[in-house]
Amino acid sequence: MKIFAITVSLFLLVQINHSSAQKASDSKMNQFISNLMSRMTIDEKIGQLNLSGAGDITTGQTTSSGIGKKIKEGKVGGLLNIKTVSKIRAVQKIAVEEARLKIPLLFGMDVIHGYQTIFPIPLGLSCTWDMSLIEQSARIAAQEASADGLCWTFAPMVDISRDPRWGRMSEGSGEDPYLGACVAKAMVKGFQGEDLRKNNSILACVKHFALYGATESGREYNTTDMSRIRMYNEYFPPYKAAVEAGAGSVMSSFNEVDGLPATANKWLMNEVLRKQWGFTGFVVTDYTAISELTEHGLGDLQEVSTQALQAGIDFDMVSEGFLTTLKKSLETGRVTRAQIDLGCRRILEAKYKLGLFDDPYRYCDDNRAKTEIFTPGNLKVSRHIAGQSLVLLKNDNQILPLRKEGTIAVIGPLSDNKFNMTGTWSVAADFSKCISLLSGIKAAAGNDTRILTAWGTNILNDSILDSRVSVFGKPTFRQSRPQNEMIAEAVEVAKKADVIVAAVGECAEMSGECSSRSDINLPDNQKELLKALLATGKPVVMVLFNGRPLALSWENANVPAILEVWFPGSEAGNAIADILFGEVNPAGKLTSTFPQNAGQIPIYYNSKNTGRPLISGTWFTKFRSNYLDVSNEPVYPFGYGLSYTKFTYGDLKLSSSITKGNHPIAASISLTNSGKVDGAEVVQLYIRDVVGSVTRPLKELKGFQKIFLKVGETKQVTFTITPDDLKFYNRDLKYDWEPGDFVIMIGGNSRDLKSAKVTWMK
Ligand code: BGC
Repeated sequence: MKIFAITVSLFLLVQINHSSAQKASDSKMNQFISNLMSRMTIDEKIGQLNLSGAGDITTGQTTSSGIGKKIKEGKVGGLLNIKTVSKIRAVQKIAVEEARLKIPLLFGMDVIHGYQTIFPIPLGLSCTWDMSLIEQSARIAAQEASADGLCWTFAPMVDISRDPRWGRMSEGSGEDPYLGACVAKAMVKGFQGEDLRKNNSILACVKHFALYGATESGREYNTTDMSRIRMYNEYFPPYKAAVEAGAGSVMSSFNEVDGLPATANKWLMNEVLRKQWGFTGFVVTDYTAISELTEHGLGDLQEVSTQALQAGIDFDMVSEGFLTTLKKSLETGRVTRAQIDLGCRRILEAKYKLGLFDDPYRYCDDNRAKTEIFTPGNLKVSRHIAGQSLVLLKNDNQILPLRKEGTIAVIGPLSDNKFNMTGTWSVAADFSKCISLLSGIKAAAGNDTRILTAWGTNILNDSILDSRVSVFGKPTFRQSRPQNEMIAEAVEVAKKADVIVAAVGECAEMSGECSSRSDINLPDNQKELLKALLATGKPVVMVLFNGRPLALSWENANVPAILEVWFPGSEAGNAIADILFGEVNPAGKLTSTFPQNAGQIPIYYNSKNTGRPLISGTWFTKFRSNYLDVSNEPVYPFGYGLSYTKFTYGDLKLSSSITKGNHPIAASISLTNSGKVDGAEVVQLYIRDVVGSVTRPLKELKGFQKIFLKVGETKQVTFTITPDDLKFYNRDLKYDWEPGDFVIMIGGNSRDLKSAKVTWMK
């Protein structure tokens, strides 16, 4: 008891010391900023609210460029998408040597899944279910970006999406709010490090606030509409988690929320983000989102800029609505000086917290740029993480792993295509340095294996579609030969092989921003190639590159082995080869549901029951909730993924079947590696709240553990469940739990679960 009391007092003392140190440093910052602002003209304050595109800047002529002139006049608070130490130093020099008040600029960029060392696309990263690896990927990204002059990233993107038609699913962590919140937190911690003032930490920016992933019909930038109860329970948790993890900035989304675009939505920015969640950083708009408010039908540039400022937006990305109209609005009384001051203060605070007032060149170290970017060490980590992100979807007759002998035919338009290995948003990458699948296989296969190759077919037959996705320096390397000729050649090659590896799927820019698809099948010409390869009778391993769940009914029924590789990043080929040859045992699990066809969308595991649920075991009953032409089941459920070994689950045991108040219960299950190789399994915990004051999902993910087991080993996996795991937002948007029965479920995916019931009283 005594020891406990001493520990508590020590803890409180540390807390008090910490908070008084925090208060002292806050008051020092406030004083500094107040002092600076007292010397600023209104034009200079408005200038701080302007985030400009790098435009015409090239090293050597910065001062004479249009942007250079604006910086000198104090009309720019930061720049986006400019990189390298020399360029950033040159621009910063104008701000701190030629502008009247010498206020340093912020330099931001879309560092989404790595800087030059590229990691898997975020959707792939989430399939690792490994928060320390995800944090590490963000840490390395921050390390590299900051070594190249940057201090701010427009990441993490944490939009929940249940719609694979939407191309930007690739940039998020899938469909689940709980997992999404864990990933959001890990990314913020990785980017911002332990201390934002260190020159290898960069400011995170949580985006896109809010609900961007719920865009109607999966069409890019489309309208979003949903009940507030759904927002709070199903879409908000990752943004909130990122804010709680200390994210310094938030980006408003393009879409509308509750009838008003996010960028003009006071309820969203001030009520939810700032008041309810306690966010104290700044809010930046998405690219030209203020001027786009005019297209939304909210008025001319002056009017919409006023609305954005009043809604709590601080930083105007590229629209120049604040820059060109706020002074007029101030003069006519449409906005107040206090509103402008508030935005300006928040931007200056971020600069202060990053240490830019102490040293505006703290991120401009030529030596770091030379030694800390794209290092062998970082590439090694990238390869490891990529291996963990791959998901084995099917492996009939244990075709995989491949043996390093005989002849392997590597066929398909993504087999030797290093420009399409990183996927979307890899702005700083040098694609020519990426490892293609063919190179990876050749490097791994050894001298006793013969490797043959053929193109097989283009990624897309339609040349117009092809031109729409051959962007940002990522050509698809289209061949002009007829399809039948390419297929015939591939079949000849395949016939000489013992096994075929078919590299098919999407090219990098078939997903990402403004890459919505109404048809989420593998393109027909690629299916035709697969059919021809299967017809040879040789075993086919499909290596699938893509940035979203695809409709794989046919492939699942016909291709014996399928490895989902997403876009694995710089080390793609090596990481895939590690899995193909069994150096690494696959452990990735899906974080989004794979539908049978686009007509089932939205399809997600944490759905509600309806009043007429389908009777279990059937797939159609008249007057039940179902389709005439397709069952309700997905091809692959959330949480699914195979291994080269077999994991056997024992019975689920609860420490008690009845409990009360804050008394936790323990749910445990034994897990055995009953296969022939060592491996890791992501054990997942789901809970169903059987009766509620509002309808509740059939199951919700509430915990997970990645467990490594040697062959024959058994471990008891235990989850401690507390009332916090039962909480949800009720009709009054109050976050609480309700007493009653709960079904506790544990298993290796959201479909195949062991369950037990607990009664929880208040
Ligand atoms: C995207 C954002 C991105 C911004 C800046 C926009 O088009 O929606 O995610 O951060 O551009 O590049």
